[in-house]
Amino acid sequence: MTDIAVEANTIPAQIPNLHVAVLGAGKMGGILLQAFLKQNLFGAEQIHGTVAHAERAIALSTQWGVDVSTDNLEQARQADLILVGVKPFQVPDLIAEIKPALTPQKTIVSFAASVKTRSIEDAAGIEMAVIRAMPNTPSALGAGAAGLCRGRFVSAAQMELAQRIFETVGRTVTVDEKHMDAVTGLSASGPAYIYIVIEALAEAGVKVGLPRDTATQLAAQTVFGAAKMVLETGYHPALLKDAVTTPAGCTIDGILELEEGGLRVTLIKAVMRATERAKQLAAG
Ligand SMILES: NC(=O)c1ccc[n+]([C@@H]2O[C@H](COP(=O)([O-])OP(=O)(O)OC[C@H]3O[C@@H](n4cnc5c(N)ncnc54)[C@H](OP(=O)(O)O)[C@@H]3O)[C@@H](O)[C@H]2O)c1
Repeated sequence: MTDIAVEANTIPAQIPNLHVAVLGAGKMGGILLQAFLKQNLFGAEQIHGTVAHAERAIALSTQWGVDVSTDNLEQARQADLILVGVKPFQVPDLIAEIKPALTPQKTIVSFAASVKTRSIEDAAGIEMAVIRAMPNTPSALGAGAAGLCRGRFVSAAQMELAQRIFETVGRTVTVDEKHMDAVTGLSASGPAYIYIVIEALAEAGVKVGLPRDTATQLAAQTVFGAAKMVLETGYHPALLKDAVTTPAGCTIDGILELEEGGLRVTLIKAVMRATERAKQLAAG
């Protein structure tokens, strides 16, 4: 992971005079908040957060050295940029709660799966910028992948700001909102699929006699290396696969087993199922 982490560690200039609130600083919100601090994107005094439980708010305030409370309205009042990180079904109530603090000058960036920009705009009740983002957990190491889309009232500068925020934790792509559930099914859920692939490859290494630690390291580094090849060469994965596959060699035998086992179709179906489920999450 070192190379990707180092790349993303290129310290961006701090965004001055702008306060950001992460409402719902749980797993994903906490990753983003800590990245802002680590990358020096915002100073600690510019960052505000909320969680549901008071004791957790106190613990996180101490741990992160930023203002974390359970008061969404107060934190939203202080912020120019409001990140929404509660569970999808909680978003409507959260927006209703912070409505008195919303103004057309503020920007909402929601990274809740499934919740449409239109429903947040409607709940806000004013013409204000709402951006939807779908990051993933490797953001914790600066190796995230995030899809972003814009609502109806987003300026180019507001979109750039959102991109910059997610670029501090990895790569971003901007998509039409109709593709956001697909981004959720592919890259937000994707790390879980790949952990299973790594676990299975490591298990395979054990089966053919490697010590477990060695097998896990080799499996993970192989996935990392293959991903890096695709991203950095720009070559089609099939071309890169062909370069590994010597005629009558051993790789083609391995590929034969993968095709017979239906790995391709299984992964395609997994993304399709997760995408379908992503469409339903906002409803609870
Ligand atoms: N995990 C992922 O890989 C991932 C990826 C992309 C997007 N997301 C999205 O991120 C959102 C959060 O997911 P998560 O995995 O980070 O879940 P999580 O760890 O459970 O985080 C949710 C956070 O919201 C807080 N919370 C609950 N009710 C609240 C309220 N009324 N006001 C303020 N904070 C409240 C919780 O506080 P307590 O800690 O006190 O309970 C918790 O910290 C979801 O919408 C999900 O779709 C997650």
